[in-house]
Amino acid sequence: MKIFLDTADVAEIRAFADLGIVDGVTTNPSLVAQTGRKDLPGLIREIADVVHGPISVEVIATDAEGMIREAREISAWGLPTVVKIPMTREGLRAVRVLSEEGIATNVTLVFTALQGLLAAKAGATYVSPFAGRLDDIAHDGMEVVRDLVHILRVYGLPTQVIASSIRHPLHILEAARAGAHVATVPPKVLGQVLRHPLTDAGIERFLKDWQALQNRENNP
Ligand code: E4P
Repeated sequence: MKIFLDTADVAEIRAFADLGIVDGVTTNPSLVAQTGRKDLPGLIREIADVVHGPISVEVIATDAEGMIREAREISAWGLPTVVKIPMTREGLRAVRVLSEEGIATNVTLVFTALQGLLAAKAGATYVSPFAGRLDDIAHDGMEVVRDLVHILRVYGLPTQVIASSIRHPLHILEAARAGAHVATVPPKVLGQVLRHPLTDAGIERFLKDWQALQNRENNP
């Protein structure tokens, strides 16, 4: 399973970039707003310098023509961008046109497996079911991820599923078990996965035992 970082914060991305575990980045207007940066092309260029993989950038328009126009502008930056399109009727119209033009898309704000199926049929490169936001309203978000992976596999559709709105490490484990192609993970959650108290305790004990050996007086 690929791991994308779900953030627009270049410093946070840099902190994970040299570990060999980050395959791409997803942003959205809220994540960009958190950075306070208004020069979107400049921000995405900085991210592209750090991570060599697809970077999702979301359109602001809500009508198909506006989304297509924005998508063409984004792909003209000459960066490895994927254009994020909201899962609406207008969004699907845009995805169909963009897929014919060879512009990669990520259909976002997917909350049912059937929405994901429609996005895949329209030609989406990626679909992003939002697991955490479904959990928030007492629906099983990971069930949508599982169903979608299964359905796309049954019909041989090439669209990749990005398990999104990841809130905790168990979401990542469930996404991997479901066979999701990608999980897009906030840096804080990826940091939680990296560490384990038994690893820390194990290192401490090894170092203590090693030091005790060095301190032995009759040590040759
Ligand atoms: C994915 O592409 C979205 O940007 C993201 O996963 C949304 O997560 P949230 O529900 O925590 O805002």
